[in-house]
Amino acid sequence: MIPYSRHSTGEEEKKAVMEVMDSGFLTNGPKTADFEAAFAAQVGAKHAVSVSSGAAALYLGVRALCPYAGMRVALPALTYAATANAVVLAGCEPVLVDVLPDTFCVDPAKIPEDVDAVIPVHYAGLPCDMDEIRKRGSWPILEDAAHACGSEYKGRKIGSENVACFSFHPCKNMTTAEGGMVTTNDDALAGRMRRMRLNGIVVDGFRQDMVDFGFKFNMSEIQAAIGLVQMGKLTLMNQARRLIALAYESELPEKFSRQAVPDDCLHSRHMFPVLVDFRDFVIHELKKKDILCGIHYRPIHMMSWYASRFDWKRGDFPVAESIFEREISLPIYPDMTREEYDFVLSSLKGATI
Ligand SMILES: Cc1ncc(COP(=O)(O)O)c(C=O)c1O
Repeated sequence: MIPYSRHSTGEEEKKAVMEVMDSGFLTNGPKTADFEAAFAAQVGAKHAVSVSSGAAALYLGVRALCPYAGMRVALPALTYAATANAVVLAGCEPVLVDVLPDTFCVDPAKIPEDVDAVIPVHYAGLPCDMDEIRKRGSWPILEDAAHACGSEYKGRKIGSENVACFSFHPCKNMTTAEGGMVTTNDDALAGRMRRMRLNGIVVDGFRQDMVDFGFKFNMSEIQAAIGLVQMGKLTLMNQARRLIALAYESELPEKFSRQAVPDDCLHSRHMFPVLVDFRDFVIHELKKKDILCGIHYRPIHMMSWYASRFDWKRGDFPVAESIFEREISLPIYPDMTREEYDFVLSSLKGATI
């Protein structure tokens, strides 16, 4: 079976986990501090705040940037539910924006001027046009960088600017089993997010006070230890992804449209999305050969929960809808063998009508 995604972990991660088990610290210990320092250094940010998931990272980010209930937060219609959920959970109003037909990232020209913050999602690991977004307004920016570990925009590492949220779910470019990280250069925001991930409590000796409203979102030492090992492998793992993407790019038949990658962006190749007619037929043909694919994403306004509570309707975000109807995310993961991706390619050639 060729899965859609597979994490790449081995003996080093196992050893790191066992060391933590014997260390006396299972949570809030030195590995977490080391992982945060190493991650901040790797992306070039002043602070990295580790949390229990990418969704938790987004929630803390929205709370930090949008402290007042009802603030309006723009996000692309084509994203994972967690992006919009973080906005709603933080008591803010999600404002959906359509995406560009070539990059599948948010269309900067369509962001309404009157929003209070913007969440660009680096779809599949391709950075959004951040300069264009900044030109359009001086909004605080929270990057959904769940797919963008190791991505760069015009030579700047994703995570080095704004507030950026990463995910370390096993299908992501690096994993901690479950986990996430928020990066920022702002001391006050970092301090607030550190408090909010531990119930908003500050400790002074044996005394505790709750100074912010928070919840329990911290990462364990075991997760941080895995993350430290994975971080050391990220460059190589991303290079492997890029090689597979190159093979897909050069050998896929014309009828599969690819995501356009601007020259000034380094793509993490978290996913390899293609657009094709008769998408469901193609997915089923691949499934018959034990090749599993993904569909990213059913747009937010077409999710039952959102459709039943918000005033959006079909046709409001036509580009996101047309991508959703034709998109397939092909299998891609660092340990994918040449035999495996050749098999995907030959199966795709045979699967089209
Ligand atoms: C775009 C996007 N944002 C946020 C998340 C949430 O990450 P996590 O699964 O770690 O909560 C995901 C997860 O797949 C995602 O794809």
